[in-house]
Amino acid sequence: MGKAVVAAVVVAGAAAVAGAALVVRRRMVTSAARWAPVMQIVEEFKKQCAMSATRLNQLANDMAIKMEAGLESDGGSELKMLLSYVDNLPTGDEKGLFYALDLGGTNFRIIRVQLGGQGKRVVKQEFVEVAIPPKLMVGTVDDLFDFIAAELEDFVNSEGEGFHFPDDDYRPREIGFTFSFPVKQSSIASGVLVKWTKGFNITNMVGEDVVAELSRAMAKRDVNMRVAALVNDTIGTVAGARYHDKDVVAGVILGTGTNAAYIERIQAIPKWRGTPPKSGETVINMEWGNFQSSHFTITEYDLALDLESLNPGEQIFEKLIAGMYLGEILRRVLLKLAERAALFGDVVPPKLNEPFILKTPAMSAMHHDTSWNLRVVGRKLKEILGIQNTSLKVRKLIVKLCDIIAYRGARLAAAGILGILKKLGRNTLPKDDIKQRTVIAVDGGLFEHYTKFSKCLNSTLAEILSKEVAATIVIDHANDGSGIGAALLAASHSQYLEHRES
Ligand code: GLC
Repeated sequence: MGKAVVAAVVVAGAAAVAGAALVVRRRMVTSAARWAPVMQIVEEFKKQCAMSATRLNQLANDMAIKMEAGLESDGGSELKMLLSYVDNLPTGDEKGLFYALDLGGTNFRIIRVQLGGQGKRVVKQEFVEVAIPPKLMVGTVDDLFDFIAAELEDFVNSEGEGFHFPDDDYRPREIGFTFSFPVKQSSIASGVLVKWTKGFNITNMVGEDVVAELSRAMAKRDVNMRVAALVNDTIGTVAGARYHDKDVVAGVILGTGTNAAYIERIQAIPKWRGTPPKSGETVINMEWGNFQSSHFTITEYDLALDLESLNPGEQIFEKLIAGMYLGEILRRVLLKLAERAALFGDVVPPKLNEPFILKTPAMSAMHHDTSWNLRVVGRKLKEILGIQNTSLKVRKLIVKLCDIIAYRGARLAAAGILGILKKLGRNTLPKDDIKQRTVIAVDGGLFEHYTKFSKCLNSTLAEILSKEVAATIVIDHANDGSGIGAALLAASHSQYLEHRES
């Protein structure tokens, strides 16, 4: 009897184990079945975003050809190749007190520098950074420029020790204005806005003279300043970097937006009109963010992002690369995975529907998470998107998506740089034995803070250039070139000759 009972228990136990195995197997089948559509979407996306070295090379060729076309005539290419009218790059001889205003993202900065001339260079500098209230980014010209002029007024009034502007001198202080949008210039200190980019959309400003608007706002507040140079951030970057290193040939911005400028011979600019500068060269603002090529990899997410943006059909290169967009691309892929493959369970997390909720700095933090359980990824998903308790598998998948999106952007940016090198004939070694060194100055938050992005940019350049040429190319982080660079350009284009003494 006792035996029978034991046997019955054994049998029942075996049945329970078999039942459990069944449940486990069924669960595994369900999870595998659930995961299959996830992987299908991710693999498809990965395949679409892949950019072989050959393709990057073709893209660079396209870029070089379109640069030529844009230099030929206005409207010759979607690359505007805007003339900066910079004819004196700062040399280090500049002396005196100069200001800069740097406007082009969610913050603006006002800078003052005391230049000491040869040997002394930047003696002292100070700056203030102010966040632009979002409503002013889509408001009126007057409101935005009045806000800026008020800050300028305060900053100038706080000029203290170490900055010298003769007391008895009633001439205006000179300022370099970095305005990081496409501007068609007519001289070093005037130009009209061509269009807005990067989420700005201020009414009545396109077609208006940018310097006149700022000057009017300053005059209203009795700020006695004269804009001596109007520059794009890329131009400021070239000027600032060149001040320290004579081998700088180009400046690239990888930040909220992306763009590049480079030094070109006047002879190579058929659309140049008027007297050529003594130096025989100038700096060209390419506005490469607007580049288009059949070699791009455009996915359904990119298409939708573009269509729903403030500037559909424009700035396509920028929308694949820049900080304003990378996090948003990730959000769109996650939304599809949630809707079509239930990545986060049966309910789509509502916050995933909100455009631009996932910013690139958060994506970067997830991408650089080195903890064993991807703690940062889990935390960001919870904090930003309200998604709780994600499995390690899901977190790993998100890191994989970051790889795909950030590396595509970095590889495209590297191809852009190769395009400039090709245009300048610096993608090969010089025939004679001359030692060649080519410096590309790069600035912007994306490059500075998204390490995996900048590392990929560097390694891609090494991949697409020959070993010998790669050894001659330096990618230099130009910290804050665009701010100081504008002040330096105000000095080298000063109306008052003593500032430019040699
Ligand atoms: C956008 C602007 C361009 C600027 C770049 C980087 O592409 O159009 O002028 O240089 O962003 O800030």
